[in-house]
Amino acid sequence: MKNISSRSDFLQKTPLVLFVLLFLAVGLCAQKQGEQPPAQAPKSENKIPPEAAAKTNPIRPTAESLARGKKMYGYDCAMCHGDKGDGKGDMASDYKNVTDFTNPDSLKNRTDGELFYIIRNGEGENMPGEGDRAKDDQVWDMVNYIRSLAKK
Ligand code: HEC
Repeated sequence: MKNISSRSDFLQKTPLVLFVLLFLAVGLCAQKQGEQPPAQAPKSENKIPPEAAAKTNPIRPTAESLARGKKMYGYDCAMCHGDKGDGKGDMASDYKNVTDFTNPDSLKNRTDGELFYIIRNGEGENMPGEGDRAKDDQVWDMVNYIRSLAKK
């Protein structure tokens, strides 16, 4: 009799054991999913190659270049950097520190080559680059245009 009773005892506990195992398994999976993706490289490692920084602007900032740059800027940049370049576009509140181009200090330590590289490739996590959307000349026009926004 003792045997039978201990077996039924075991059978009675089985659902509980299964439940506990299931609970642990679900917990483990949840933990896996919660793991952080690998951190993005910090901005300082987002280095601009020296040969890119040294590139000179082949397009002079003529009225025509500025007008072309302004048009592209209106399509692709104003939503963050603002119509006037003051860093207060409609989407600006979603990001920290959208660069204010009207502040003459903002771009003063940047070469045209660096600006070209940033506009082409983006910068940090929040500044999207043009990628293949723009031709080189169009990016240079935008470099000219954002420089022209600095208050004297
Ligand atoms: C989605 C919002 C967004 C859009 C669209 C955007 N930017 Fe930016 N941009 C940012 C933010 C945010 C920063 C600051 C990034 C940082 O410092 O990490 C930035 C930084 C920059 C800088 C770097 C200033 C510096 O010296 O570090 C330049 C140049 C720039 N943007 C130009 C442009 C141009 C030109 C366009 C359009 C082709 C554009 N951005 C479109 C959000 C945006």
